[in-house]
Amino acid sequence: MSAPKVILVGVDLGQDHFDMGLVELGLLAGTAGMEPVARLVCKRRAPDAALFVGSGKADELRLLAQMEGAHEVLFDQTLSPAQQRNLERHIGLPVNDRTLLILEIFAQRARSHEGKLQVELARLQYVSTRLVRRWSHLERQQGGIGTRGGPGETQIELDRRMIGDAIRRTRERLEKVKRQRATQRRQRNRRDVFGVSLVGYTNAGKSTLFNALVKARAYAADQLFATLDTTTRNLFIGEAGRSVSLSDTVGFIRDLPHGLIEAFAATLQEAADADLLLHVVDAASPDFMQQIAQVQRVLREIGAGSVPQILVFNKLDAIASDRRPILLQDLYELDGVPVPRIYLSASSGEGLSLLRQSLADAVLRSYSTAAGTECRAEADAPTS
Ligand code: GTP
Repeated sequence: MSAPKVILVGVDLGQDHFDMGLVELGLLAGTAGMEPVARLVCKRRAPDAALFVGSGKADELRLLAQMEGAHEVLFDQTLSPAQQRNLERHIGLPVNDRTLLILEIFAQRARSHEGKLQVELARLQYVSTRLVRRWSHLERQQGGIGTRGGPGETQIELDRRMIGDAIRRTRERLEKVKRQRATQRRQRNRRDVFGVSLVGYTNAGKSTLFNALVKARAYAADQLFATLDTTTRNLFIGEAGRSVSLSDTVGFIRDLPHGLIEAFAATLQEAADADLLLHVVDAASPDFMQQIAQVQRVLREIGAGSVPQILVFNKLDAIASDRRPILLQDLYELDGVPVPRIYLSASSGEGLSLLRQSLADAVLRSYSTAAGTECRAEADAPTS
């Protein structure tokens, strides 16, 4: 079966990260198994309440969709339920937005029991907000003085209750998995293992770096969110004579639907509890600065804002020779704080030894600090 054809639409509302080429939306669509056949970009001061774009643009969109034989239209921005419905009527095709697309990809990719539960929870939350708003006009019509009840309201109540129950059940099951994960983490901590988590914008190369470091075979693909589940492996750092536990985490992305951040909090907790974050950046991407900012935002949201970081500027091999850095190791100012940065190529292996050395230094530093604290604690203890 051939891939469904989609038209990509972006509205420039003056936001600083507006993606003129809709490159990321195209990648997201491709990852979800669709084929982008045309792109339409327009500028507006504010979204139109009814159609998001103006009615002229909506006509243009309908014509373009007919010409291209499109099956669906995808908006880069989040649409309200009313805008989505009106656009579908106007164009005569299903209209979806970035949030739904990301949810769809997460649903396709979740492999583990926990991952599936997390996606299910996010999807239910998304549906429940749509349901409330989608039906609210009906409620108003039927909820006048003395006109309690009515078929519309009964149906809404029923749907709401069913979704509410499903949300509660999924939450409870997730809580259970979360407790198991916390126990595993505590056991690791008790074994005194230094925890390192790989974080980064989607497609930065986290899984490739994870594989290069531990020689495991985590799934790496030129698709967004190839990895959804946290994989943890022991990594022996010969230079430090110690092992660390290394975790690969889900990729971050701008405007990650909020429900997904909440749903993935347990998985992302791995990052918040780490002793060190390897923040992987696609150094060959023209958008790497915005991507770093987005990752920093999510890290703050999940309470990992103050975990020490090493910035790993990956894909060194793909950087044009005139932009290639002279030094592969330096400091990068991240939110006003200088952070160690290492340039490397996870796929060719260049610069990997620098990273291993930095990891070894961090591990040794942490153990010597811990030993120092113990000595001080002993010295401070009252003598009997
Ligand atoms: P998500 O699972 O979406 O978060 O992606 P990820 O960050 O785990 O990225 P992944 O390792 O799957 O790599 C994404 C793409 O970048 C793949 O096509 C890799 O082959 C490619 N890639 C990774 N590292 C390098 C590198 O050093 N150089 C080049 N040229 N490509 C790389």
